[in-house]
Amino acid sequence: MYRIESKINPGSPEFIENKNQYLQLLKTYRDRIREVRKGGSDIAVERHKKRGKLLARERIDLLIDPNTPFLELSSLAAWGAFDGQFPSAGIVTGIGVIHGRETMIVANDATVKGGTYVAETIKKHVRAQQIAIENHLPCVYMVDSGGVFLPEQSKVFADRFDFGRFFYNQSQLSALGIPQIAIVMGSCTAGGAYVPAMSDETIIVKKQGTIFIGGPPLVKAATGEEVSAEELGGADVHTAISGVADHLAENDRHAIQICRNIFQTLKPPRRQILELSTIEAPFYDPEDIYGIAPIDLKKQVDVKEIIARVVDGSRFHEFKARYAPTLITGFANIMGFPVGIIANNGVLFSESSLKGAHFIELCTFRNVPIIYLQNITGFIVGKQYERGGIARDGAKFVHATANAQVPKFTVIFGGSFGAGNYAMAGRAYDPRLLFMWPNSKISVMGGEQASGVLIQVKEDQLKSRGLQMDEKEREALREKILKKYEEEGSCYYSTARIWDDGIIDPVDTRRILAMGIAASLNKKFPETKYGVFRM
Ligand code: COA
Repeated sequence: MYRIESKINPGSPEFIENKNQYLQLLKTYRDRIREVRKGGSDIAVERHKKRGKLLARERIDLLIDPNTPFLELSSLAAWGAFDGQFPSAGIVTGIGVIHGRETMIVANDATVKGGTYVAETIKKHVRAQQIAIENHLPCVYMVDSGGVFLPEQSKVFADRFDFGRFFYNQSQLSALGIPQIAIVMGSCTAGGAYVPAMSDETIIVKKQGTIFIGGPPLVKAATGEEVSAEELGGADVHTAISGVADHLAENDRHAIQICRNIFQTLKPPRRQILELSTIEAPFYDPEDIYGIAPIDLKKQVDVKEIIARVVDGSRFHEFKARYAPTLITGFANIMGFPVGIIANNGVLFSESSLKGAHFIELCTFRNVPIIYLQNITGFIVGKQYERGGIARDGAKFVHATANAQVPKFTVIFGGSFGAGNYAMAGRAYDPRLLFMWPNSKISVMGGEQASGVLIQVKEDQLKSRGLQMDEKEREALREKILKKYEEEGSCYYSTARIWDDGIIDPVDTRRILAMGIAASLNKKFPETKYGVFRM
């Protein structure tokens, strides 16, 4: 493979200006991450520790193999909601390695409102299970939760992907032969009691863990029976009398050790084999991305400059280099793993769509994971293009992406607007993981385009009634729409709602993608079957 020849001059004023602005964006991002990692209030953290309990992230650190990374997902879920009272939505999820096995870890943070669940907490928990199902990852549930956050019950209980979905998913995971281990390290109440009850093996911590379908206050209200939490569903009861739990642990550390021991007894996965190359750092410094990435989305960025800072040795075997240059396609390696890359370099035309669909066929035929690098304003519009059948050609690209069964990974490095989001494996296209950079934006269209459309619609409406807007009204409407799109298009707005799996530092992109690919190898890639490509 040839090395990409970079044309970037890291000494240029433009590069330096971009980098300075990017470092500001990164500062905001890192400050926010630091903030949520503290967990709940200082008082709640203090109380938690005084009980001899470890914090959720400390528990995870001890659970995973020493000196291995933990890929935390959606750390900024619920950001900006609930007056900041649900940092990380009160739950930590992510992929870590236990005895060499990539594992999905779901850990309640009891310092956040007793580890209770609001809508975002549920979405994170269900998303973690979906990732486990798609990649056949064992699951560890570190339970320390008061169940549903009762004031929000109408948003979290009754619907298809609400609280009940956890146990539906546990049944599905189990039927697929995916191991699930629960460690009960605190409260595990009401529906939450099914988490340990539906796991393969359950560990419970003495004097800390409790499991019951109804807690003492509910029992008293329902039957008049007075009983302490420990008597009703403590570790002694469940390991010696009910058998709901299998292992008694003295404390958090002991429980984690038992869980690690269980991992030594698991059946090995039936892995997908990929031909790996020797790992090589990119020839060009990944930190250069700060000087290149599009902060102003109007600025066209040559995506090959970004690819050169993500892939091994900055080497890229480009496919159809001379054809449809607004979509870059080609093969490369990331930390030794072979990948196909599909990257936006401008608006999507008919020929770029055909090129994309063709390249996806190559990747699925060759069993190579696909990386989508998104910076897309959408498909080209206009009379000439409609007559040329852009809708039909775009559909081929969307169809190929939707049906490609090799693992897909999406990184939004600029804008993600319109149907370009679909063709480029947006959330609805089930990429195994989807991440955003701190400069990125996502919405149905850009704010300026949306204000243009809405003003035009309004003007047509008024005209049909013999009325019209004056310049001041038009400007006020434009401002209002721009402001709304600015806020709702932000990557923080997206990540707060778990439309992605997290915002990442661009420099970490290759490491994170490599972890995602490694995790995807726990299951053989399914066969791809396409349907009807309209010609
Ligand atoms: N819904 C809403 N808020 C809840 C809650 C619930 N189910 N459970 C706890 N909270 C809140 C508390 O009001 C408190 O809020 P504050 O920090 O604003 O005062 C915070 O979470 C911590 O609760 P607290 O009881 O002080 O902490 P704790 O560590 O001593 O006990 C629990 C935690 C979860 C064991 C205990 O609060 C409890 O038993 N909650 C009720 C659980 C229940 O019956 N759930 C049924 C839901 S299906």
